[in-house]
Amino acid sequence: MPTTLEVLFAPAEFARLGQRDLSQTVCVVFDVLRATSTMVTALGNGATAIAPVAEIPEALGIRQRQPEVLLAGERDGVRIEGHLTGGIGFDLGNSPREFTAARVRGRTIAITTTNGTRALRACAPAAAVLLGSFLNLRATTDLIERQHPSHLLMVCSGTLEQAAYEDVLGAGALCELLWPRYGGGAVADSAHMARRLFRLAQDDVLAAVAQSRNGRRLMANPDLREDVPFCVQRDLFGLVVEMGKDGWVRTRGSQDEARGKTGN
Ligand code: MLT
Repeated sequence: MPTTLEVLFAPAEFARLGQRDLSQTVCVVFDVLRATSTMVTALGNGATAIAPVAEIPEALGIRQRQPEVLLAGERDGVRIEGHLTGGIGFDLGNSPREFTAARVRGRTIAITTTNGTRALRACAPAAAVLLGSFLNLRATTDLIERQHPSHLLMVCSGTLEQAAYEDVLGAGALCELLWPRYGGGAVADSAHMARRLFRLAQDDVLAAVAQSRNGRRLMANPDLREDVPFCVQRDLFGLVVEMGKDGWVRTRGSQDEARGKTGN
């Protein structure tokens, strides 16, 4: 079957996804700095499920219904504090280094971030939605190679309303790995562009990401600086992360495993 490979660079593009038929499409969403890297880390460190929501009141609503849920997320890059919520300070920000096993093992989390959670929600009608990052790139590639979906759409979350260099590098790295399987199909110019950008940067991805708008913002903050090298680590976690039809993000296979264990 002929394959298609495409990359969306900017939020204006994912905002229009509602007008497309995504029923045969697998989306891979990248927010390298930092939302998808953070969710992959949280699940890698034992969190059971994460609800990515676009707005703060949605996260607060989940907490009200499920008091055990941890609240996570950022506005302007920093943890959401009580003045934005009417008094409830969030438990965690959006730094992947906060989501240690000690904080998150066995926990469910509701997270809201500026772009990453919006991009994920925009992809919800797709046949499947995977979370992409450098931290789990090999495992994500292996699954796509095994399943070989005919339409693969990589969605870069961007920064506010602009494209983000680090997301394009993440998507380009995945294009590079998948090129033997998808390069002979209908490849959009956007996928060629992402792959070429990655190839130019691949010898020093950290230096490239540190030059991005987000990278510079984080590097300028002593508390968040280390997030940049953290998020460009390759294959720290061997897990595939997926947003299910119920809108929750989990390690792929974890629901089946849980069912197997409980015999449900
Ligand atoms: C986002 O979702 O816009 C980012 O993850 C922002 C951030 O670095 O916290």
